[in-house]
Amino acid sequence: MFDLDGRVAIVTGASSGLGAAVARALSSAGARVALVARRHDKLAALAEQIGGAAVACDLSDPGRVGSVVPAVVEALGPPEILVNAAGNMFTTERAESEPLDAVRQTMDLNLLAPFLLAQGVFPHMRAAGRGSIVNISSISGRVGIPGIPQASYAATKAGLSGLTAELAVQWARHSIRVNTVAPGFFRSEITAPLYEGERSLEYLRRNTPLPLEGTADDIVGAVLWLTGDAGRYVTGQTIVVDGGWTAR
Ligand SMILES: NC(=O)c1ccc[n+]([C@@H]2O[C@H](COP(=O)([O-])OP(=O)(O)OC[C@H]3O[C@@H](n4cnc5c(N)ncnc54)[C@H](OP(=O)(O)O)[C@@H]3O)[C@@H](O)[C@H]2O)c1
Repeated sequence: MFDLDGRVAIVTGASSGLGAAVARALSSAGARVALVARRHDKLAALAEQIGGAAVACDLSDPGRVGSVVPAVVEALGPPEILVNAAGNMFTTERAESEPLDAVRQTMDLNLLAPFLLAQGVFPHMRAAGRGSIVNISSISGRVGIPGIPQASYAATKAGLSGLTAELAVQWARHSIRVNTVAPGFFRSEITAPLYEGERSLEYLRRNTPLPLEGTADDIVGAVLWLTGDAGRYVTGQTIVVDGGWTAR
């Protein structure tokens, strides 16, 4: 049920953190994985270890996103899996002061690129008669996070859940499933500053019911379930993986 043998997968954000962990897991399950992000050296190093192909692209530039799927088709064949894990926060300003260019950059990378990539893989998944798209959002798309301002980021992550439900309904007739995984807090490049101070670590511990620190590998199970046949009757959903943060 978790076997992805022979399937081509695209994983964005594969140069570090959650995306890299997901790419390793999909490869272990048998998929041939196209690794997408800006840092080609990191992608090439991972491709060296797990096979697949490195496809460097700045996904915050909508004019370039359209080149990704054709490059993957040429390198590995038509994709049946797309995991949109690339994302970033471009400002730590409070909502009333977020600069317009940071708001736009956040929208372009976190929401527009996943939509454009979904459009790009659609004809290939329709032709294959199956496909699975998994977007990586955030619990901040569902709840406000006191003390860590992130208005535009939260808006894009909530937007992914809306996009997910709509694509799921439109594309279900082609057996293309679309889901979102919403992580809580995990140690990665993007969250590194939070894990450096005792005060912020204590904040994370206090707000996370499970007595564990989330690692990138904790996201992998949900993504594997949703990409493989184990999740074949699941579509349009946002699955929260947060150690219980939003359950309080
Ligand atoms: N870690 C957490 O606690 C947490 C919580 C909730 C949600 N998330 C979400 O999980 C996803 C992965 O984040 P992470 O925690 O693994 O952080 P990360 O280690 O910083 O990874 C972010 C990835 O996105 C890529 N990326 C950033 N800007 C890009 C651009 N313009 N074009 C192409 N790729 C770009 C980065 O690669 P390059 O720099 O090489 O381009 C990197 O591979 C993100 O969508 C994030 O919002 C993370």
